[in-house]
Amino acid sequence: MKNYGHLLEGTGFSKPQVQAHLKLYEGYVKKLEEISRRLEQADRADANYSFGEYSELRRREPVAYNGVVLHELYFDALGRKGATRPDPSVKEKLAEGYGGWEEWLKDMKAAAGSCHGWALVVQDPLRGKLTTNLVQSEHHVGLFANTPIVMALDLWEHAYAIQFGIDKGEYLKAFFEALDWDVVRHRLSAVDMTVGMGSL
Ligand SMILES: [Fe+2]
Repeated sequence: MKNYGHLLEGTGFSKPQVQAHLKLYEGYVKKLEEISRRLEQADRADANYSFGEYSELRRREPVAYNGVVLHELYFDALGRKGATRPDPSVKEKLAEGYGGWEEWLKDMKAAAGSCHGWALVVQDPLRGKLTTNLVQSEHHVGLFANTPIVMALDLWEHAYAIQFGIDKGEYLKAFFEALDWDVVRHRLSAVDMTVGMGSL
């Protein structure tokens, strides 16, 4: 489990909001540990489509697994409010994927209005560009396969309701102010945008 104690101050998110969110993240880490432990012991001979311990553990494993991974992608990219700005290379890459910087911002707002769950900015290897992947209902439902994640925006109510109530607009503003753009730039530089280019 990663230590995100530094996020309790200075991000622009309130302490109760961050504390509640970190507690939830810890819950996913513990559940993933429990599932992993129980899978070692589960009787493979009892696997069954309707019900079986092994089957249920494997079916629920992606919820805990992605719950951990997505929250770490989210928390890893948060920092002090206003500490970083998107540099031209970041703006250029996002603009390439979405047809413009403003278009990217509009797409993020549209994604936020479309789901409770996650809005992910991913490298789409089929179309050779950045795109948005909505993951909703649970942490694994709708997740594109084989698409490196550049940015993870948590749109579950627990991410903002303590501080902002139902005002997603204020949450989005706070998220982008706390976003560590250096992390986004690093992730963008790590993805190979030529992979799969032209296959669709
Ligand atoms: Fe969350």
